[in-house]
Amino acid sequence: MNTVKRIAVLVSGGGTNLQALINAQNKGIIKSGKIELVISNKADAYALERARKANIKTAVVSKKELGGSQRAFENNLITLLEDNKIDIIVLAGFMVILSERFTSTYPRRIINVHPSLIPSFCGEGFYGLRVHEAALKYGVKVTGATVHFVNEVPDGGEIIMQKAVAIREDDTPETLQKRVMRLAEWKILPLSVEKVCSELL
Ligand code: GAR
Repeated sequence: MNTVKRIAVLVSGGGTNLQALINAQNKGIIKSGKIELVISNKADAYALERARKANIKTAVVSKKELGGSQRAFENNLITLLEDNKIDIIVLAGFMVILSERFTSTYPRRIINVHPSLIPSFCGEGFYGLRVHEAALKYGVKVTGATVHFVNEVPDGGEIIMQKAVAIREDDTPETLQKRVMRLAEWKILPLSVEKVCSELL
């Protein structure tokens, strides 16, 4: 019998996407995988609190405390992922770019959520609120979110799901960010995780 896939979620901040994954798991929307581990690169990330409340194992790997070494940081991540027999890695507001050495270790096993319709407003330097600032500055009328596999090109891996969100005349980066999360990210991230896990079973 196939057992459900073991999921690790990597976070850096508030963790509303992690919360959407936990809620989806509780509701049975995610049923082909189970969140076994949450890793943060920041010890004070509120996402860790959300994981603890849901009785999910947590870990912190700080690049800063490893002397800023990307290699040591990724080695620590890999050790944790291997020790916990992780099948699928979800980047949910994880603000560290991973090297090709890391991404090629997990081909089609790393999933990221990005707050725009890729290929718009993505790649290095486009993260968090900056993405929405750029969309408003450009004057696009429609934006959204994308869930994609992670490869060596930042935000360049194969797209799994996208959802569009209309921009309003009075939007600020903050109002737009919240609406893109609520209408797009929190919906397509859990659905994508279930899709990828079920296809691996
Ligand atoms: C989300 O909007 C996510 O799409 C974005 O950061 C936010 C994290 O919020 N990620 C990126 O910009 C990655 N390039 P959360 O911690 O509340 O999930």
